[in-house]
Amino acid sequence: MFLLAHLSDPHLGPMPQPSLADLAGKRLLGFVNWHLRRGRQHRRDVLHALVEDMKANAPDHIAVTGDLVNIALPVEYGTARAWLESVGPPDRVTLVPGNHDIYVRATASHARRTWNEYMRGDEGGAPPTPFPFPFVRRRGPVALIGVSTALPTFPLLATGHLGAEQIARLADILARLKQEQAFRVVLIHHPPAGKNHWQKRLVDAAGFRRVIEAHGADLVLHGHDHVHAVEWIEGPAGRIPVVGVPSASIVPGSDDEPAAYHLFRIDGAPGAWRCEMIVRGVSGDQTGIVELARRTLIG
Ligand SMILES: [Fe+2]
Repeated sequence: MFLLAHLSDPHLGPMPQPSLADLAGKRLLGFVNWHLRRGRQHRRDVLHALVEDMKANAPDHIAVTGDLVNIALPVEYGTARAWLESVGPPDRVTLVPGNHDIYVRATASHARRTWNEYMRGDEGGAPPTPFPFPFVRRRGPVALIGVSTALPTFPLLATGHLGAEQIARLADILARLKQEQAFRVVLIHHPPAGKNHWQKRLVDAAGFRRVIEAHGADLVLHGHDHVHAVEWIEGPAGRIPVVGVPSASIVPGSDDEPAAYHLFRIDGAPGAWRCEMIVRGVSGDQTGIVELARRTLIG
């Protein structure tokens, strides 16, 4: 049995004090939003309790699907790097970026530079390419495929985009990993299935779904919406679960769902995989982290 943990969207606080120049353009809206709303909702003590509970369950690997920072100030990336290291070492934790991580052009390369070891493939000593997505990591029976939907957008937009080149490479990778009989887990920040508000959508979600329909995958994990979600894509050998997790840091009573993370118990063999999802999160009476739900996804 391989135990995969998934958490997302920690939106790490506290917000550093930006200069006036830092707040030009899109960052100003994000800064105001943090102080009006987000800053009260995303709490480090909630996140810490969740991560400690996750570690106590001893997952074999941890997937993090982005939005570590808020308005992409340079200092936020160092804070997020320290948090990543507190979650686990780069060989045990796989990260893909979210839209807040590549929020403005000025710091668009900071996520890759600062978190590089957490979001690259197994190729080892090869220098990272300018755009290292999709990347592949093999862990036991599992292949983790990380894609990036993050790019700077205009103010008030939180859309994502994969691009034709990344979609084509994803198709090749999924076909190869099918031959290798791996349990294929695709990590993506934006939800690629289900209904999404136009301001927050993955623009080329249809292209992503076509690749999954053609080449299959075993599990797709995403964040972004801060809610539990299970959708399905019809693959060549049956339907494929697309699972969204709430933010890992939201205190109960907020606009979004309280903090939670998922554990996936992956078992079986190629052609006969089994996968059970366990939802753990903040309890209703806020006394700790408890099991909230359990569901068989495959098998
Ligand atoms: Fe997001």
